[in-house]
Amino acid sequence: MATVQFNPFTPEAKADPYPLYRSLREADPVHHSPLLDLWVLSRHKDVTFVLKDDRFSADRRKSTNPLAVQARKLQEEGPFAQANTMLSADPPEHTRLRGLVGKAFTPRRIEEMRPRIQQIVDTLLDDVQDQDEFDLIEQLSYPLPVIVIAEMLGIPAENRAEFKRWSDDLVATLAGPGTTPDAIERAQSSAQEMASYFQAVIAERRKEPRDDLLSAMIAAEERGDVLSEEELLATCMLLLAAGNETTTNLIGNGMLALLRNEDQLDKLLGDPSLMDSAVEEMLRYDGPVQATARTADADVEIDGHTIEKGKMLFVLLGAANRDPAAFPDPETFDITRDDNNHVAFGNGLHFCLGAPLARMEAQIAFRTLFDRRGKPKLASDEPEWGGNFILRGLARLPLAFS
Ligand code: HEM
Repeated sequence: MATVQFNPFTPEAKADPYPLYRSLREADPVHHSPLLDLWVLSRHKDVTFVLKDDRFSADRRKSTNPLAVQARKLQEEGPFAQANTMLSADPPEHTRLRGLVGKAFTPRRIEEMRPRIQQIVDTLLDDVQDQDEFDLIEQLSYPLPVIVIAEMLGIPAENRAEFKRWSDDLVATLAGPGTTPDAIERAQSSAQEMASYFQAVIAERRKEPRDDLLSAMIAAEERGDVLSEEELLATCMLLLAAGNETTTNLIGNGMLALLRNEDQLDKLLGDPSLMDSAVEEMLRYDGPVQATARTADADVEIDGHTIEKGKMLFVLLGAANRDPAAFPDPETFDITRDDNNHVAFGNGLHFCLGAPLARMEAQIAFRTLFDRRGKPKLASDEPEWGGNFILRGLARLPLAFS
């Protein structure tokens, strides 16, 4: 009987969850957590197996787990009640939703944002041009993704602060057992505000379409099928919530990894062509999304354990990304790593739709910051972690430039 316990809610695990992942992988890779009443998978091969196998459902309504019931409460009482999003849908519903949204949120539309993302990064850095020290999170990695997605959707600039608050409130409920009733209430009221706001904008765009993502989603059609009003609304909320804190955390966690591995930072500064592989390594080494969940839709055996139908699984992306069976020297941050088969964006049907956007934002942010300011130093002793167990990220990352 393995003795390892899965408790990701301790302060130690918050600061550094990787020793816990390592003991799980080594001692009990298909672990049953009595604490959370779910299975916890930590090996790369099991994580990819579950994400690719259609006997595991992304629809949390199928689960009997208390965490899932909590999430369901939000869904049933909030504006998500009317429509599922692709993130928690299975085929054929997932195929339909992802197909329709994918007609509007295309790689081309994302690529067209490149010059604008550059401008936004430049403006954000202009604001701190005279400061030798500033907080990277506050000044760059926090505002950047919300401005980008708001502009893509076609939302007026003056509503961005609300946008950010709504999205923060929604993702705060991902803390699992740590979620307070207060946080759930805030998320519900933010969801309501967000819904009324988007309903009004959707109505405007129906009357007068513009060249924005929202109008494109309204127009998206596949053999006579279109997104319903509720689906449009839920998708706007999904894009907003899925893309904000995650991208913020990629830039923050990635910068921290560079600062803690100065040889890698120097290497990147000396050879900017390493930027693409550096960002992939940031995603692998300390990714913004540490875990996702699935529910068994049938009894399935993994490594001699039967996962019973209805049972929930935590799929530890962050643990899979440090699995020595998948990555040589997994604990080493190596920006030149090739064959970087990380699962930071998931795998299979639900592979992150926003991955090209997140990658582009991070690459532009790092390149521009280094070009303009040179080599950063960490301006505090200990970084301050915010986020929660699922979304891993820093609350503050003060940088100093000489
Ligand atoms: C570094 C930043 C990001 C990370 C690490 C990330 C991570 C992920 C992961 C792990 C999933 C799969 C979840 C699962 O299988 O249960 C996912 C799905 C998704 N992400 Fe991202 N994401 C990021 C940024 C974005 C952005 C910028 C957007 C859009 C604006 C976005 C939109 C989505 C959508 C729509 C899905 C659902 C796809 C589906 O269910 O088919 N993400 N993301």
